[in-house]
Amino acid sequence: MRRKLAAGNWKMNGTQAALAELATLAARPAAGCDVLICPPATLLSRAADAAGTAIALGGQDCHAATSGAHTGDISAAMLADAGASHVITGHSERRSDHGESDAMVKAKSEAAMAAGLTVVLCLGEDLDQREAGTTLAVIGAQLAGSLPAGATGDTLVVAYEPVWAIGTGLTPTLDQIAEVHAFLRAELTGHLGAPAADIRLLYGGSVKPSNAAEIFAVDDVDGALVGGASLKAADFGAIIDALDAA
Ligand code: 13P
Repeated sequence: MRRKLAAGNWKMNGTQAALAELATLAARPAAGCDVLICPPATLLSRAADAAGTAIALGGQDCHAATSGAHTGDISAAMLADAGASHVITGHSERRSDHGESDAMVKAKSEAAMAAGLTVVLCLGEDLDQREAGTTLAVIGAQLAGSLPAGATGDTLVVAYEPVWAIGTGLTPTLDQIAEVHAFLRAELTGHLGAPAADIRLLYGGSVKPSNAAEIFAVDDVDGALVGGASLKAADFGAIIDALDAA
């Protein structure tokens, strides 16, 4: 049985004042699903105090190396040391802002696993690819190129985030989400065999309280990776409730 996961990605949002939202979330009755918040790295240590044990914390990126001359970068071990148990890799904003290739994402993901972090590996097509009908080919290639070796349900979560749905208010149809998630499950099984059945598949892209329930009812959707709607405890709390009810 895969435990459901509500994951929030705060992206480059939040200073110390935002920890009040985390404290509000932590004060909610215990959820039946796992809850993960990925704040900016600057907040991780203090977020660990605010989150208590109810909420897991993650980084939003890590370097592939364990240490060294990489000004401005953060290693997976540093994230773990600051209180993170997870890290997002391959987010489309990292791929586009920083030119991250599948090979780089794979190296980062393997470094994260080596440091004991669970990887939340993101992939998804852009609008041109969706309109050209190449969505599954694009996603299959991203997965093949970035899947960390030896991944299991304990060390890997995969998030399907169509680039055109991120921050736009647009979402794929439920059939489109179902198609990609079924494809991802089959591809993971091809790559990893039986352990693929335990890997959680998240949908991400304009998830909000008003559409969460219908998305969570889709087969093989084990939760969500939420951007904007994770910044406010009230919104993210409603999404957690929808996941609990699914
Ligand atoms: P939004 O929920 O703001 O569309 O962002 C999704 C996302 O990119 C999460 O990683």
